[in-house]
Amino acid sequence: MANRGHFSSKFGFIAAAAGSAVGLGNIWKFPFEVGQGGGALFLIIYLIFCFVLCYPILITEISIGRKSEKSAAVAFDQLGYKKWTFLGKLGVLCGVMILSFYNVVAGWVFGYFVEIVKGNFDIGNEFGAFTTNIWRTGIYSIAFLVFTTIIVSQGITKGIEKASKILMPVLIGIILLLVFYAFTLPNSGAGVEYYLVPDFSKLSLQVVYKALGQSFFSLSLGLGALITYGSYLERHENIVFSGALITLADVGIAFLAGLMIFPFVFYQGIDPEGGAALIFQTMPGIFESMGSFWGIFIGGLFFLLLSFAALTSTISLLELPVAYFVDQKKWKRKRAVWVSGLIIFLLGVPSLLGNGYSAFFTEFITYFGTDSPRDYMTFIGDVFIDTLLPLGGFLTAIFAIHVWKKGNLVSELSDGADNFAGSWLNTYIIFSLKYIAPVILGAIFIFTVLEKFFSISIL
Ligand code: PFF
Repeated sequence: MANRGHFSSKFGFIAAAAGSAVGLGNIWKFPFEVGQGGGALFLIIYLIFCFVLCYPILITEISIGRKSEKSAAVAFDQLGYKKWTFLGKLGVLCGVMILSFYNVVAGWVFGYFVEIVKGNFDIGNEFGAFTTNIWRTGIYSIAFLVFTTIIVSQGITKGIEKASKILMPVLIGIILLLVFYAFTLPNSGAGVEYYLVPDFSKLSLQVVYKALGQSFFSLSLGLGALITYGSYLERHENIVFSGALITLADVGIAFLAGLMIFPFVFYQGIDPEGGAALIFQTMPGIFESMGSFWGIFIGGLFFLLLSFAALTSTISLLELPVAYFVDQKKWKRKRAVWVSGLIIFLLGVPSLLGNGYSAFFTEFITYFGTDSPRDYMTFIGDVFIDTLLPLGGFLTAIFAIHVWKKGNLVSELSDGADNFAGSWLNTYIIFSLKYIAPVILGAIFIFTVLEKFFSISIL
């Protein structure tokens, strides 16, 4: 146990887990999903999912990790349920596939940092040209993966914890600053209204499953990342409280990111439904409006910190296959890190090519009954985020209540949370895992697969 490494302090664990949660998912993906999902309505459904479903699953994952002291792929076996090992392995697969495209987007962010520092604010209008220049974006994404591998190869306390502790608070500061700036701009009210006043006529199954996928993705749930982080957590730390802080930090930052972006989007007359390009098109113009000194300073800092936020997430994604090789295959950490990094890079090549450079990957797949092809990255998101993460959450809830049994879960959660057993929160957590999670996640999983991939609408 000792040689696996442990977080050295409670704050270190919270910072690392919140660092995993807070990333491109909050600042890049969340705003564009809100934009495509019709604004405030998406926000409301997302918030409900985060608190009602995700928080209970989040603390369950951490408990499974701490109890087993093993990473996702091995944890179930270690607890004595060999048949459930498939769930951990499915998580590792999701982690690898998600990281393969996440790293490409992180490379774009890093590239935007470089462009802004050079004073090239026009890059906002040149997103398409930027992503099709695959040699440049390829180098940025390789650089990003190399940063990640170096930190992960340093191990838990030296690398992951230290980086998260410093960078997270600074990021929150800069976003707050930009929210204040956003409110001073003309037409910012229209953006705030779009973001906060719901239009219920936009309700559809698509909005619901997108919000569900987003809540799982944003909280790093459903693939065992938090099982793995939980395995490095000391006994007697309060999981219930730490889990609440992680959830609040993550949701809070996503909320602030929306509050920052939509006034900027409306101020510049940009289409809020612009998809993955949204922050890349929106932010450079805003930095330009600050004048060249402040624009370069604040803009550079923004993209730099966003790169760091992405880094604390890529670290936790890479930790999934790495911990698998270390725990299961008994590999040395360094070898596990570099082999995983290489595989992930290769798997990421289609994402790099699929944003305009290669017609094959840009128009990768057309689902049954639809006529517009999806690019490779969207396809990976549809399968590994929107479909498999909620499925992972569903199976985790079933495992906790019916296989591991609620007594074991409650006793693990109570270790460090003295008043938890028998409290209203205890009742609520168990109720959510026992009834809400299986019913809602099970139903949405079936409806999503039928509607998304086969165009069969039941609702
Ligand atoms: N939660 C991260 C984000 O919002 O950017 C993405 C992520 C990290 C998903 C780690 C899953 C994971 F295991």
